Amino acid sequence: MISDRKLEHLLLCKHYDVQYKNKNAGFKDIELVHNALPEINKEEIDISTNVFGKKLESPLFITAITGGHPSALKINKELAIAAESEKIGLGLGSQRAAIENPELSNTYEIARENAPNTLLIGNIGAPQIIGDSKNSKEFAQKAIDMIDADILAIHLNALQESIQPEGDVNATGYSNSIENIVEEIDIPIMVKETGTGIAFEEGKTLERAGVDFIDVAGAGGTSWAAVETYRAEDRYIGELFWDWGIPTAVTTAELSNSLDIPIISSGGIRSGLDAAKAIALGADAVGMALPILKEAFVGHGEIIKFINIFNDSLKIAMFLVGAKNLEELKNSNLIIKGDTKEWLDEREFNTKNYSRRN
Ligand code: FNR
Repeated sequence: MISDRKLEHLLLCKHYDVQYKNKNAGFKDIELVHNALPEINKEEIDISTNVFGKKLESPLFITAITGGHPSALKINKELAIAAESEKIGLGLGSQRAAIENPELSNTYEIARENAPNTLLIGNIGAPQIIGDSKNSKEFAQKAIDMIDADILAIHLNALQESIQPEGDVNATGYSNSIENIVEEIDIPIMVKETGTGIAFEEGKTLERAGVDFIDVAGAGGTSWAAVETYRAEDRYIGELFWDWGIPTAVTTAELSNSLDIPIISSGGIRSGLDAAKAIALGADAVGMALPILKEAFVGHGEIIKFINIFNDSLKIAMFLVGAKNLEELKNSNLIIKGDTKEWLDEREFNTKNYSRRN
């Protein structure tokens, strides 16, 4: 049952090591160039953003985590209280469970009840919108109405679907289905990966389909191959693909250099310093799931503390490069080294474009 699977995912993420082993998100290869004369007041640094339709006080999103199991109710409540208090965006987990079994709707509705004002992102999977376009539209609209969503995210998770025994591996028609949803639905549509990243070629396809935002959700943080390995009877395939995917720093640079739509960088973002690097690479915001889930098991107070430390670290990085807002941070000088440079060189992106921008 989907509901039991949701609980298993939460418990595995709480108790097991579910992150990439031999690959990292790439932020260790990125160095912001220190500015010894920042000429700004750290106390006046502004990290708010209006890019996503509502004013957010930080570019940190809590990306899709859960819903659809009674134990998800408490997690979504804690996440929502924290997101509302700190005025940040919150993504809910896949709403399929509640669309198929409305008794579970309360595990998602609780988020809007506790976050009446902040930006809430609904979530459905690409496999649920292929086929009949009328059914797909109804499915998407139910997800939106359930939580009065500001944005609807469609997630891509080919890796996870390949490894879970009950996985849905027919990805034929995803692009057309996404285009239909964009046409039929009257709120902005985001497409997000779930930890394996999006190459610029597919990013362009999504932009052409009219998608409003992309969350790259690259490799280096939570590995869905890892999560499913712990659930599998035979662990061979999961272990083999544990580290599959495009590292987050790479997918962030590829998309922000190729597309005009706003990009969220996520997947292995673990600090305000990682976030500063992601934004300097071209992202408009960043997202985190696993570290915030861990705080949510304790309560909203811990999530709020975590967000405050994140915001302060981001501001320190901005102070040290002399950026008083996110737009200025986006234009900071940075150096790309190591594996990340190798990836970008091989993909014919010029890493030098980042090193002497001002
Ligand atoms: C997720 N993620 C996710 N994404 C999505 O679009 N729909 C979903 O239902 C879920 N469910 C989910 C459950 C749990 C327990 C976790 C930890 C994550 C993926 C998530 O939004 C994110 O893209 C990845 O986890 C990578 O980010 P982190 O965890 O490395 O910060």
